[in-house]
Amino acid sequence: MQTLKSKGIQAFSISVKKNKKIFIETYGCQMNFSDSEIVASVLSEKQFEITTNIDEAGVILINTCSIRDHAEQRVRHRLTQLSHVKRKKPGTIIGVIGCMAERLKEKLLEEEHMVDLILGPDAYRSLPSLLEEVEAGQKGINVLLSNEETYADINPVRYSSNGVSAFISIMRGCENFCSYCVVPFTRGKERSRDPETIINEARNLFDNGYKEITLLGQNVNSYKWKSVDKDFSFSDLLEKIALINPLLRLRFATSHPKDIPDVLLHTIAKYPNIARSVHLPVQSGSTRILQMMNRKYTHEIYLERIDAIKKIIPDCTVSTDIITGFCSETEDDFQETVSLMKEAAFEFAYMFKYSERPDTTAQKKFKDDIPEGIKTKRLQQIIDLQHVLSMESNKKDIGRICDVLIDNVSKRSKDFYSGRNSENKVVILPKGNFKIGDYATVKITRCTAATLFGEIIN
Ligand code: SAH
Ligand code: SF4
Ligand code: F3S
Repeated sequence: MQTLKSKGIQAFSISVKKNKKIFIETYGCQMNFSDSEIVASVLSEKQFEITTNIDEAGVILINTCSIRDHAEQRVRHRLTQLSHVKRKKPGTIIGVIGCMAERLKEKLLEEEHMVDLILGPDAYRSLPSLLEEVEAGQKGINVLLSNEETYADINPVRYSSNGVSAFISIMRGCENFCSYCVVPFTRGKERSRDPETIINEARNLFDNGYKEITLLGQNVNSYKWKSVDKDFSFSDLLEKIALINPLLRLRFATSHPKDIPDVLLHTIAKYPNIARSVHLPVQSGSTRILQMMNRKYTHEIYLERIDAIKKIIPDCTVSTDIITGFCSETEDDFQETVSLMKEAAFEFAYMFKYSERPDTTAQKKFKDDIPEGIKTKRLQQIIDLQHVLSMESNKKDIGRICDVLIDNVSKRSKDFYSGRNSENKVVILPKGNFKIGDYATVKITRCTAATLFGEIIN
């Protein structure tokens, strides 16, 4: 391996830039996908070239997730595959970035020998210089978390975008410390981004043809910004962005039930271009379990918020996240989840088996004592229940008229488009004279539990 000489740095820099295209593979949540666009931007500004074809890449970056053990196992499996690529193409640089890099730090370099570079979510600005070090034969690592970094000045490179929908990260980190969750450890302190930079980014996206923006944060509705003369809440921010143009549809994720006040719901109700859909993870229906999870609400408070949503925004859909088999969950606790699901009548749910994460409060204080078989059985029960609830909700839509933002060609047939309505339901419609990025007014004619089908009426 060559060593780094002061004169050589520039030469190596040219060699990385000229010879090694960079491929980014992303796992995990929307925040991670949004971060990959920030990484692409940091690299492009330093004249590195991004490729979407892994075969021509000299640098492969894996943006990773640690949320459940399974997510990490997937990455490890992928790294084993990539070590074969490296054997065939010596000199290939493999970098692990994101949450798993932050959680495992240098341990990952010891455990996975094919890895050359480790970079945590607040350290992406140092990627270009670390790549030079790696090219010079060293291993590169930066896992410093920051109290301020929001990448506010970085204009994301939307390298795999459909040109219709885009993410904007409006805050980073999380300090809620739900007892099961690894995110506060991998993403650090909660911090909001300057609203001016968010509004400008949204305006630019609209001017460049984008029609839908999803505002992102681990607790997006806890967004707050203090300026000299005024405090700026999430509701204020939503309003400002909604006013950019009525044709710009706004979504946001993920909301924490502790921060969904009526004033926010009234803002959503006031602007038709703010989507009629809220993602409000409940995690469990048992107040005892919720307390152990440190979720800061009860079964009743959660349902009261659902009532408020339905009252203030009558056509709003609600989706959720649920965990089965958390420490000490009894059959009665589980039945509380089942009854809450029925009462809330969720349109959609992401459902998971509890996966114990190292160093979390749950791992330190409670026993992961629910047998795998019971976790699985309960998970299957709520998956089946959600299927029924989704079907019931979709059936009610038959005969209704809605505006669909077309974002793709249907996977099943080239003669049809697919898109989403304001309620975040997937709608399949005939192509007509529309193109991707258009809004179509559609009458729903039939459905499955996952999809609505409609005919064009304009
Ligand atoms: N910030 C969001 C979501 C974070 S992660 C929120 O507050 O809800 C997405 C989902 O993964 C969580 O809502 C939760 O349902 C699930 N999850 C997080 N940690 C988990 C764990 N240890 N085991 C199983 N599921 C988990
Ligand atoms: Fe994790 Fe809870 Fe923070 Fe969501 S709010 S990221 S579940 S700690
Ligand atoms: Fe995973 Fe990190 Fe997102 S742990 S869910 S990629 S914040």
